[in-house]
Amino acid sequence: MKKTIAVIAGDGIGPEVMQQAERVLSAIADGYGHQFKLNHALAGGAAFDKFGSHMPEETLEVCRLSDAILFGSVGGPVSEQHQIKWKNCEANSILALRKNFKFFANFRPVRLLPELAHVCPLRYDLVKDGIDILFIRELLGDAYFGAKETTIKNGKRVASDVSSYTEDQVAQVAHVAFNAAQGRRKKVTSVDKANVLDASKLWREVVREVAANYPDVTLDEMLVDNCAMQIIREPKQFDVVVTTNMFGDILTDEAAVLAGSLGLLASASLNSEGFALYEPSGGSAPDIAGQGIANPIAQILSVALMLRFSFNLEAEARAIEVAVDTALTAGYRTRDIFAEGEKLVGSKEFTDQVLQNIPVATCKTAG
Ligand code: IPM
Ligand code: MG
Repeated sequence: MKKTIAVIAGDGIGPEVMQQAERVLSAIADGYGHQFKLNHALAGGAAFDKFGSHMPEETLEVCRLSDAILFGSVGGPVSEQHQIKWKNCEANSILALRKNFKFFANFRPVRLLPELAHVCPLRYDLVKDGIDILFIRELLGDAYFGAKETTIKNGKRVASDVSSYTEDQVAQVAHVAFNAAQGRRKKVTSVDKANVLDASKLWREVVREVAANYPDVTLDEMLVDNCAMQIIREPKQFDVVVTTNMFGDILTDEAAVLAGSLGLLASASLNSEGFALYEPSGGSAPDIAGQGIANPIAQILSVALMLRFSFNLEAEARAIEVAVDTALTAGYRTRDIFAEGEKLVGSKEFTDQVLQNIPVATCKTAG
């Protein structure tokens, strides 16, 4: 298979974990006889330095010409946020990409492997069997993209962000969630604030209508405040969670803690044509950038999601996931998930372990 991939490493730890993810991608290309052409492009502060923009037209063009986008992370240190280089950096880059390519569905799988149960802050008996939740966050609606205004009324500053949903927006992401649940444990939890918000009342109504098309999937409806509690009270109850843009943003950071570290979580953002962007759920972690200690797993697993969703290469995606699990089971840990008695390694050394577990040249063995 021949594919072109836009690679946007971004800022902070982005470039160093992307370098490791590229090594894994190249091992898969060798092992399975594929050709992946990588087109590197800039975003965030890195793009600002060169183009004076966080999401230059050049980068959008590279994305348009590619079969998928592999994204790192963007943003600068907290202490430098006042600099123009970092001002609105995240919003200008990643939100612009989402809007430009109409990525309406964001998959954020949260998995806790039983062997990492001790890095999860929840009580052991709640998580000892592992956790496997697929969050599907609507990505183009809500207060994120509604009308915004900052003004002065009667001499006082007022600001507003309109949060709205159309029935089509809700139905589109609901279908994605029910489809995903059919391939899993057949349960969808829809999360809203229907006791207060009109947009949530519509959300709930439309999700129910969509659910009628999937009689094999159970629909559970939950208010967001209760959901925030249930995630840490009994995470095992969740299979697929579908929710709005803002609630999804908040709940997925909360749920990330269950996996032990944000450095473990990959995500995929898809549009209706099947074009997609893959990125770690975590940020650019400027405080540890350049030291070679960042956890490369989220970026590596983003590659696996790309192979599965964009290129339909299930065996290759599984090979990466198994290779990562095997390295973890063997006790290799980056600093964020390290505990006494385990093998502390850097980004490169961890990836070396992953590479050792990737099947070598399956297609070439005959030659
Ligand atoms: C995320 C991030 C973004 C969001 C920020 C960087 C704009 O927090 O992908 O979850 O809020 O969507
Ligand atoms: Mg977020």
